[in-house]
Amino acid sequence: MVQAQDFHMHPVFYGEPGVGQLGSFLDFHTRPGTGIFILTDENTRRHCLPVLLEKWPEGNQARVLEIPAGEATKNLQTCEPLWQSLTNSFADRHSILINLGGGVVCDLGGFTASVFKRGIRFIHCPTSLMAMCDAAIGGKTGVDLGPLKNMIGTFSQPMAVFIDPDFLETLPEREIHNGFAEMLKHGLIAEASYFDELVKCGPDEVTPEHLRISVEIKSDIVIRDPLEKNFRKALNFGHTIGHALESHSLEHDATPLLHGEALMLGMLCETIISEKMEILPEAAAGHIIAGLEQFIPEYAFTESTLDAVEALILHDKKNRGNKPSFTLLKQTGTVITDQQVPEEIVREALEETATMAG
Ligand SMILES: NC(=O)c1ccc[n+]([C@@H]2O[C@H](COP(=O)([O-])OP(=O)(O)OC[C@H]3O[C@@H](n4cnc5c(N)ncnc54)[C@H](O)[C@@H]3O)[C@@H](O)[C@H]2O)c1
Repeated sequence: MVQAQDFHMHPVFYGEPGVGQLGSFLDFHTRPGTGIFILTDENTRRHCLPVLLEKWPEGNQARVLEIPAGEATKNLQTCEPLWQSLTNSFADRHSILINLGGGVVCDLGGFTASVFKRGIRFIHCPTSLMAMCDAAIGGKTGVDLGPLKNMIGTFSQPMAVFIDPDFLETLPEREIHNGFAEMLKHGLIAEASYFDELVKCGPDEVTPEHLRISVEIKSDIVIRDPLEKNFRKALNFGHTIGHALESHSLEHDATPLLHGEALMLGMLCETIISEKMEILPEAAAGHIIAGLEQFIPEYAFTESTLDAVEALILHDKKNRGNKPSFTLLKQTGTVITDQQVPEEIVREALEETATMAG
């Protein structure tokens, strides 16, 4: 188990030539004959692998592993054939797994590597906005347990993260909006002016500089508290409600909410909770809600959705026992963690969120 005092934040390679730096990084860190594996999903194999191989031709020697795309496959059942393929290919403890994909490939690939033969090295090459700005940074790996998000996982640091915005060229628009939610969260928890700037420009005008700010905010938080004993919980803002909604939607909706869409609704709801708890002043809450409201997805909440979300938050990983624990806002850019919220306030805030999303 990593102890906080042993923690070294992984390097993040950013900017030109993006994944073109992978070859020299591997030359430095590996010996000839090291087994290199690339994990993709079906979409990133088609759209991103050719980009990677063009910039890093030696990658043609690597063995490519593929999983189906999407959150529904982020579970232990998907890991088992990967462990089998690694075994069949004689992967050893010096082998390296390169995760080429969105947050699902990075989370699941990181987990798969972190427990295979008690842990092999891995590298993230994030290809979605969500993974570039958040999921690939900070060393949380994991898979879902049934509908419950990220219940099985490890804190394991990648050797490095290579961020190459060229991958975003093929990312569908809905996925850009999805990643934008985490960027808004970075502003809300750490930098008010960044939140305001993002609200002004919207997801379609996100620049590499915005991405860099998000990576920096997330990295700064992780460095201060790698194992989420205290300050890292700031990153969970919006996630208590967001994860519960995402779980519910995955089980019940034909087109489930994406992680960022559920998070957008979760941040709205938890801003309302912050105000109702008299932690966030009314004027600040109004400003944040007006900003978030422009980007929330339409979602039809029923009474049973509200009941299910209330039941699901009892399983949140951040809880102590079965008492839900929230990260709430004190101001734009400042949070308070470990807050217990009375059930009736959660319900009222969910109902107000439902009205805005309907
Ligand atoms: N570990 C963490 O700290 C952390 C933080 C935030 C989110 N997450 C996790 O990340 C996951 C969500 O990540 P996501 O939104 O990237 O989902 P995802 O990995 O499912 O990717 C979204 C979709 O885009 C496709 N795709 C990815 N890159 C593409 C590209 N360049 N071109 C075309 N298609 C591409 C994927 O195949 C997929 O269909 C969730 O499971 C969430 O829990 C983890």
